[in-house]
Amino acid sequence: MINIGLIGFGNVGKSVFDIFAENGDLISNRIGQPIHIKKIAVRSIEKYSSQVPDPSLLTDSVDDILQDPDIDIVVEVMGGDQPAYNFITQALTHKKHVVTANKEVVSKHKRHFFQCAKEHGVDIYFEAAVGGGIPIIRSLKVGFSANNITAFYGIVNGTTNYILTKIQEEGKDFNTVLKTAQELGFAEADPTMDISGLDAAYKCVILAAVAFKIDVQLDSVYYEGIESISLKDIQYADELGFRIKLLAIGNRIDPDTFSLHVHPTLIPKEHPLSSVRNEFNATYIVGDQVGESMLMGKGAGGSPTASAVISDIIDISFNLSQSVSYRNLETRFSDAQVQSFDAHECQVYFRLSVKNTPGVLEQVSLQFSKHSISIEKIIQKEMIDDRADVVIITSPMSESTSRLLQENILSLDSCHQISSVLRLIKSF
Ligand code: HSE
Repeated sequence: MINIGLIGFGNVGKSVFDIFAENGDLISNRIGQPIHIKKIAVRSIEKYSSQVPDPSLLTDSVDDILQDPDIDIVVEVMGGDQPAYNFITQALTHKKHVVTANKEVVSKHKRHFFQCAKEHGVDIYFEAAVGGGIPIIRSLKVGFSANNITAFYGIVNGTTNYILTKIQEEGKDFNTVLKTAQELGFAEADPTMDISGLDAAYKCVILAAVAFKIDVQLDSVYYEGIESISLKDIQYADELGFRIKLLAIGNRIDPDTFSLHVHPTLIPKEHPLSSVRNEFNATYIVGDQVGESMLMGKGAGGSPTASAVISDIIDISFNLSQSVSYRNLETRFSDAQVQSFDAHECQVYFRLSVKNTPGVLEQVSLQFSKHSISIEKIIQKEMIDDRADVVIITSPMSESTSRLLQENILSLDSCHQISSVLRLIKSF
């Protein structure tokens, strides 16, 4: 008999419980022995007692799980850094395997957890921390393990992908779509972490750890959210043959140097990532042997996330009946050089609001040539009174050049404002 202790009974915890109720026999058969949830730690027993068939399953003391010698696997689905960090550390120290869906705690403390798990002869699994139900962590650890992974491009936040899709497909502005997304339950009441790109940045750190075997922290990842993406940009990008997606990007620049960044990105409409709509997530991996490979699926929500949590429980259970595999533990987990984002180069999309007078385009284009940047496309769009929108797509430039260029353009009398600056990737 394998016993599980569940810490947290929100959307994901409840779904884990429900899947065990529905598919428990199937799961036990797959593992080859009975498995069941022995205890569930919650803040308030009263609040959750109607949601379980037997309220004695609930406890408001996590120690009832951490100190119980019969519990083999602790499943942490409460989220956040503290007290989750303490609970996971204590569980590992008590020689309990851990499954967590918590991107923040894994992103911040992975090295500590791997070491602690190894020291105590147990494992920690975190499939659900990135991409919800998509088996991206297991694919990187196992399926792609013959490869040197050279790059990943992830749509790893469902809320922002839903918002960008709806702006594009329904022609509504950001705030209107956000409000509808909240009403429909796709966006949190406080969506700051999603919208700002922070959620995707945590996931970028975890993908870097698993894909590149490097230990970096959030401060090595440049991130930008979708707050400034307007309907106009989405429409202009569409006319030019692009979609705008919030991508978490990791590139191996040389064997020991990496670039990690999260930002809205223009990508060709024909690229497979462009077809990932609404709340769906996808991860596009480039390996030196496998080439390009994309996994797509539901990146959030109770059942898809719980599906990933239970896959980890099953993996650990296999290992329990054999021996611990340590497949998860990054024995060659190294510190890495992460390229400063200033040096990162890519093509850029600019939207400028300029005076609609003769010679303006010449003045603007002169600024680009001064920095040896060539203009791939320049289009004059909407005119309102004496102002015109000008959209420019450039040859690749570094972030530092882009900033200098923006200063130069803004100093022109003929430029009212730089409305948008977005990065563009054509080849992956
Ligand atoms: N809030 C996240 C999203 C899901 O919208 O994708 C949990 O990581």
